[in-house]
Amino acid sequence: MIRAGNAGPGVVVADNVWLLPLKDLDGDARAVKLGEIAGLEVSAEHRMFVGDPLRMALTGLAEDGRYPYVIDSDGTAVGVLTLQAGAATLAGWPDDHTAWLLRGFAIDRHRQGRGLGRIAAAKAVVAAAKLTAAHGRREAGVVLSVNEANPAGLAAYRHAGFVDHGQYLGGTSGPQRIMYSRFTS
Ligand SMILES: CC(C)(COP(=O)(O)OP(=O)(O)OC[C@H]1O[C@@H](n2cnc3c(N)ncnc32)[C@H](O)[C@@H]1OP(=O)(O)O)[C@@H](O)C(=O)NCCC(=O)NCCS
Repeated sequence: MIRAGNAGPGVVVADNVWLLPLKDLDGDARAVKLGEIAGLEVSAEHRMFVGDPLRMALTGLAEDGRYPYVIDSDGTAVGVLTLQAGAATLAGWPDDHTAWLLRGFAIDRHRQGRGLGRIAAAKAVVAAAKLTAAHGRREAGVVLSVNEANPAGLAAYRHAGFVDHGQYLGGTSGPQRIMYSRFTS
């Protein structure tokens, strides 16, 4: 374990956080990780911000253009996220194709507040840049929308380097902030 360089006092984070692309795992490894994802918990107060982790992972596996990841720490699943191509306007971005959409982002409720979210969000940007390069696409960064009433999400994304690009009033769960992180190279 290490203390994160920009973490607040007393915040200790794991130094071994990995994003494992579910679509690239072999069948056995994927089944193990899906079993772990099934055990992830979203608190009642957070259910308005995110869906069920297993359902989000399975939806990501079933759809072209979606790349679901399991967030692993100390060898076990602690969360999930999905990168989606061609869908950035769902987060209030002006077009669909210059940014990846980050969606379905959740850390198990028992593991929150330790810096895992900010690390995973930063690693999602690196993973997205690799997808763009591997597939010859033209995204320049990652965008998401986060509810204005979600302080943990706002803080985690800000600490991961995402920049506020204004308010988004689409969707059904109240005002959102559009947050964007450009690829670094
Ligand atoms: C959002 C989420 C992924 C963040 O994961 P995490 O591992 O807890 O994030 P981190 O520990 O890296 O950072 C959380 C930050 O929020 C802060 N925070 C947590 N609860 C807070 C609250 N009620 N008010 C203000 N800040 C809060 C923490 O203090 C920390 O900031 P700090 O580093 O400045 O102290 C996690 O809370 C989660 O899964 N929430 C439910 C699903 C969700 O909201 N997903 C995002 C949808 S866009």
